[in-house]
Amino acid sequence: MPTTTPETSTPSPLGRATPRVDGPHKVTGTAQYTSDFRFPGMLYAVPVEATIANGRLVRLETSAAEKMPGVRAILHRGNIGPIYRSTLGPGFEGIVDERRPPFDDDLILYYGQYIACAVADTFENAKAAADAVRATYDRQTPNVDPNLVADDEPSVVATSFGEVNRVESERGDAARAFSSAPVTVDQTYVTPTETHNPIELQGTTAVWDGSMLTIYEESQGVFNLRGVLAQMFGLPQENVRVITKYVGSGFGSKLWPWTHCAIAVAAARQLQKPVKLVISRKMMFQSVGHRPRTQQRVRLGASPDGRLVSLQHDYVNAQAMRDNYHEDCGEATAFMYSVPNLRVAFGRARRNVGSPTSMRGPGAVPGLYATESAMNELADKLKMDPVQLRVLNEPKVDESNNLPFSSRHLLECYQLGAEKFGWSKRTPAVASMKRDGLTLGWGMASCAWIAARFPAEASIQLRDDGTVRVACGTQDIGTGTYTNLAQIAADRTGVPVDKVEVALGDTTLPAGPISGGSMATASVVPAVLAAADSAGAQLRAIATSTPGSPFQKRSADDLAFEAGRVFVKAEGREKGIPFAELLRSARLRVVTAHGESAATFGDPNPKYSMHSFGCHFVEVTWQPEIARLRVSRVVTVIDAGRILNPLTGRNQIEGAIAMGIGMALLEHTTYDPQSGAPINASLADYVVAVNADVPQSIEVHFLDYPDLHLNALGARGIGEIGLAGFAAAVTDAVHHATGVRVRELPVRIEDLLGPVGS
Ligand code: MOS
Repeated sequence: MPTTTPETSTPSPLGRATPRVDGPHKVTGTAQYTSDFRFPGMLYAVPVEATIANGRLVRLETSAAEKMPGVRAILHRGNIGPIYRSTLGPGFEGIVDERRPPFDDDLILYYGQYIACAVADTFENAKAAADAVRATYDRQTPNVDPNLVADDEPSVVATSFGEVNRVESERGDAARAFSSAPVTVDQTYVTPTETHNPIELQGTTAVWDGSMLTIYEESQGVFNLRGVLAQMFGLPQENVRVITKYVGSGFGSKLWPWTHCAIAVAAARQLQKPVKLVISRKMMFQSVGHRPRTQQRVRLGASPDGRLVSLQHDYVNAQAMRDNYHEDCGEATAFMYSVPNLRVAFGRARRNVGSPTSMRGPGAVPGLYATESAMNELADKLKMDPVQLRVLNEPKVDESNNLPFSSRHLLECYQLGAEKFGWSKRTPAVASMKRDGLTLGWGMASCAWIAARFPAEASIQLRDDGTVRVACGTQDIGTGTYTNLAQIAADRTGVPVDKVEVALGDTTLPAGPISGGSMATASVVPAVLAAADSAGAQLRAIATSTPGSPFQKRSADDLAFEAGRVFVKAEGREKGIPFAELLRSARLRVVTAHGESAATFGDPNPKYSMHSFGCHFVEVTWQPEIARLRVSRVVTVIDAGRILNPLTGRNQIEGAIAMGIGMALLEHTTYDPQSGAPINASLADYVVAVNADVPQSIEVHFLDYPDLHLNALGARGIGEIGLAGFAAAVTDAVHHATGVRVRELPVRIEDLLGPVGS
């Protein structure tokens, strides 16, 4: 007898292109973003920004503003009430980049620092009042010097996540090996300040009833925000609830709490009314983080046949005056290639800017731009194909710790990428390739991103109508987390994806991971699987204990729960009973099960080196007559474990490539040396890549090898890796077309005027 699939069983949605389950809510306008929540009597808050970047606030004149129509309060240091400081706790508690609470003292450390806040009955009245507040300053010259020289700091320094050794990784004697290396590269690469520009502005709606504080915030980490607010307002954690139903993207700027949130809470506390505070696009450039400027010296030494003998990566990132942000540019350096002598070290330079923060692929993205650019320069010096150079230096293990890689298929990425791109047709001489009267440039680079898990909890409910609810206090920041959770729960409970309700973004749900580090999916998988297993165990127990059940005489161990049915293992699924039927016969509405899983991130004794890998092949077209440079074609291959949803997965990589075009050619935040203000603080002046900048042809390939060392589904993360390395592939292509090596991003037309290639 051939085995037949029971009619009730649905094919697993895992690995299938699954449209976003939240898509209809978004396109019909029923998805509620933070600023969509409204409450009776709600007031509006607009902060007042400092117009100097360094100095002291001497006087604040608020009396005119206080008398304006609709104004309820002008809050400032003298009347806002206590806002306590917070500290970093154990594990993943209390993380903040800008630690100083709002209005904590009279020191102005960066342009746009909040010095007061107008609260009124309408947004317009609040804005008018905020504009009417007058400040007098004792003004000092700000330091926004773009040239970064490391400040004098000890060898172990504080960062937003704890203490870090400034020598991040070291093996052999890199300096000595470099000095005797036959072929060397010694270059400095600069990445500019970049500002996150999610469409949704940051904001808080705070509701305080006297004991319970409820916050609606577009947060990438509701539990961390809850913990920090509990500290800042002296409340038990259970008296703080954070709700984040939808996030209009974040790119890292919404990972950790910022000062506007505490201002909104303090306003709600003082006025006993719900308060909404949504910051402006200009404020987004000042007070909610940015990717800091980096200056990275990379020294490579190689033998004439192309084997690396030495790699030194010394970098400096800008940071704020009082905070401790570290942009970990060395994250991928120590394990990327085989090299016996290596040293990665960093320093930081304090500037009068708001605190930097994580921005998509923090560390590895600017870091790989530098190291991959240096590899391409080395290939040039060796007159060797850049793919061949990388193949030659592919490591067998992670040489920084001698751990095996959990799953590394980078060589296959190169092979597939080169084949799909047609790389073998590349002629290496500058400006040697033409098409339709345009000069072509072809470049490539590798990429990597960490794979790890944060702690996670989740619950699954099976219901007597055959529907399922899965809940986890993580967030969907536009990446597809609602859909992923629906797919996993559907797979485990045997119901179709559209019968799964997903609850996210609320601290009353089981504690979920931050939507950061590309770790949300990998983290929630084992928690959801554990919850599903536990639900199955409960069903089996119900099946054996319910009067009238066909399994009443069986032991629970004889039974299984798969594909939505409880059945006797020895008899097969076909003779099983759908869980909904079982629940109805037992007169149960729901079975609820909890699952949790531990972190691998920060594991002091890891058994494997876990990362995702990939490579980009990029074509640019160059018209020297009119100095027109375009990215015309991209092939990207990603090895990120098993891809749970190729549709949202591809979308992540395509989005990262669009952002990579912006990083390579357009994005940079510029500070005015006089005022210290970010002067291109608008979407008109801070230029991001738009559809017109993105080529028709972006090919994304996933290798799809499950990484079972990370979780039972073998899924790693894909939110960030697509941006890593991309800019280096573009600048390599630019060099191939124009002969110009641009070592400071973004590539400017001025950099390319008058080179060869005409
Ligand atoms: Mo990402 S920078 O971890 O949001």
